[in-house]
Amino acid sequence: MTDTISGLGALRTSVVLAPSQLDEIEACYRSLGFVAVRGLLDEEDVASLERECTAAQERVAAGELPERYGTAELVENDAGEKARAFVNYVTHVTELSPAADAIFDHPLLLAAIRRWLGPECTSARGGRFGYVYQDARPSKESSYSRIGWHSDWQSAPHLSMWPSTAVTVHLDGTSPANGFLRVVPGSHRWATPAPYENVNGAVVPDGAAPWGGYTDEPPPHPMPLGFEAVPGEVAVYLEPGDVLLHDCYLWHSAARATVDSARRRHLRGGWFAGSVADQHGEGDFVKNAAR
Ligand SMILES: [Fe+2]
Repeated sequence: MTDTISGLGALRTSVVLAPSQLDEIEACYRSLGFVAVRGLLDEEDVASLERECTAAQERVAAGELPERYGTAELVENDAGEKARAFVNYVTHVTELSPAADAIFDHPLLLAAIRRWLGPECTSARGGRFGYVYQDARPSKESSYSRIGWHSDWQSAPHLSMWPSTAVTVHLDGTSPANGFLRVVPGSHRWATPAPYENVNGAVVPDGAAPWGGYTDEPPPHPMPLGFEAVPGEVAVYLEPGDVLLHDCYLWHSAARATVDSARRRHLRGGWFAGSVADQHGEGDFVKNAAR
């Protein structure tokens, strides 16, 4: 609890920092488990990302690209008709978008991430899904609208690539209208158990570490199975072009949009302290409710 309270003290300062504030970025990340960087991308950069990523998304929807980049399935729409599913994901998007390829190698991001993952950290580009463009929408055709409480480490507690830093580049600002990230500041320091109990009935793989976190202090309360409130949680509202860095042990979830027509689009990449050679990608072992 003390950690959470001191984390809230840091929150009063800022979780959104400028690229020039490298020391503060590191301090915030280590203290809270996450930090947002504002000012790496200008409006033109965001427009380029949006243009290239939506073009790739349309090509996936039209079936013009190999399955490596994503697929669109037929599902039932709100009118009860079979319709082509909305394409929520474009995988390996850095191969299709030069703007996406560039932003993830931004020197400031690498300088920050190497401070806490070490100089030999490896990019998730080489993982099964690579870097991914994600478009969350609340409609029935959409397979991604929200995601339940989890830490990223829980997606593969049997692998040795941890810790990691997830990098999320926001194309849309976030709010209750289009959905937003919920986090528990300081929860990366708790010894969070592998998700032996989960809503998907997923079996924790053999060889999983019993817990993941930076101390052996157990969480003060169990991680909720779904979307329930967690003491100390905060909402993270971001603007277009903001880059969020979050730790693999941080408790987080994503709230569903309250406006039916809203969209929440971002690009997701990351870096691992260890090799991603045996990584099968977050989502292979899924314990949280994404839909
Ligand atoms: Fe996550």
